[in-house]
Amino acid sequence: MTDALSALTRSAGQGGGPPALPVHVGIIMDGNGRWAELRKKPRSSGHREGLRTAKTLVKAALDLGIKVLSLYAFSTENWKRTGEEVAFLMDLIGRHLKKEEKFYRENRIRVVHSGDPAGLPERVAGDLGDIRRLTAAYDGLTVNLAINYGGRDEIVRGVNRWLKGREGGESLTEEALSRCLDLPDLPEPDLIIRTGGESRLSNFLLWGSAYAELYFSDKLWPDWTRSDLEEALKFYAARDRKFGGLK
Ligand code: IPE
Ligand code: IPE
Ligand code: MG
Repeated sequence: MTDALSALTRSAGQGGGPPALPVHVGIIMDGNGRWAELRKKPRSSGHREGLRTAKTLVKAALDLGIKVLSLYAFSTENWKRTGEEVAFLMDLIGRHLKKEEKFYRENRIRVVHSGDPAGLPERVAGDLGDIRRLTAAYDGLTVNLAINYGGRDEIVRGVNRWLKGREGGESLTEEALSRCLDLPDLPEPDLIIRTGGESRLSNFLLWGSAYAELYFSDKLWPDWTRSDLEEALKFYAARDRKFGGLK
C-alpha cells in the first residue's frame, strides 16, 4: 500500500467525517476484447487474462480491508454476443468456480451471486450454488459475482417477488423493494469503477448506485493492477458525499 493510501485507510472510521475507505466497491470489468485484439489474439484470451486480473484485485481488496467487492462478469445483454464467445465465457466462469473454491475458502471469502440463476446453464448455476453454500459462513471480504445480471432485470424480478408477498392494497415503497432485490443484506455500493474507457453503467447495480461515486479509467481491464485500485480509492477518499443534503 502506498503511504498516502495507508494514511487514508488509517483515518477510516476514526471519527471526524465519513470513512475514507469505501465499504462496497463495484467494478465493471471492461476491455478484455480490445486487450486481446490489440495483441492480435482471439477475444477469448482477453477474457482469460481478465479473470487473472479479477483474482489479483480480489486479493488486493481483501488486503486493503474492503468489505464487499461486486464484479460485473456477464450482463443480461451479453447473451447478444456470438454463441462461441458466450459458450467460452460460461465455461470459463464454471471452471473458475470449481478451481478457485480452495482460494475462496483459504482466504475466508464469502461468495454471493447477483443476477438470475434461472437463465444460466444448469452447471454454472449449480457451481454458483455450491460455492455460495461452502463460503456462506465467512465474514471477511464478500465477493459478489454479477453473472446474468442486469439492473433492470433485478428491479423487475424484485417487484415480482414483492407482488407475490403483497398483502391487501399495500403500495410498494423504496424500503420494500430494496428488501426484494437480489442481495438485500449487502450495503449499497459506495464506489463504482469502470475500466476500458467507456463512461456508462451498462445496466450495472442501477438501484443501489443511486449515490455511488463513479470512477472511470481508460486502462483495459486485463492491464489493471492493485495500484490502479489504490488510485480509485484515493479518488473516492477525496469526494465530498452529500446525499442531497448540505454540509
Ligand atoms: C468485458 O470485456 C467482459 C465481458 C463483458 C464479459 P469486453 O468483452 O466487453 O471487452 P471489450 O469491451 O470488447 O474490449
Ligand atoms: C459491461 O460491459 C458488462 C460487463 C463488464 C460484464 P459491456 O462491454 O457488455 O458493455 P457495453 O456493451 O460496452 O455497454
Ligand atoms: Mg465491453
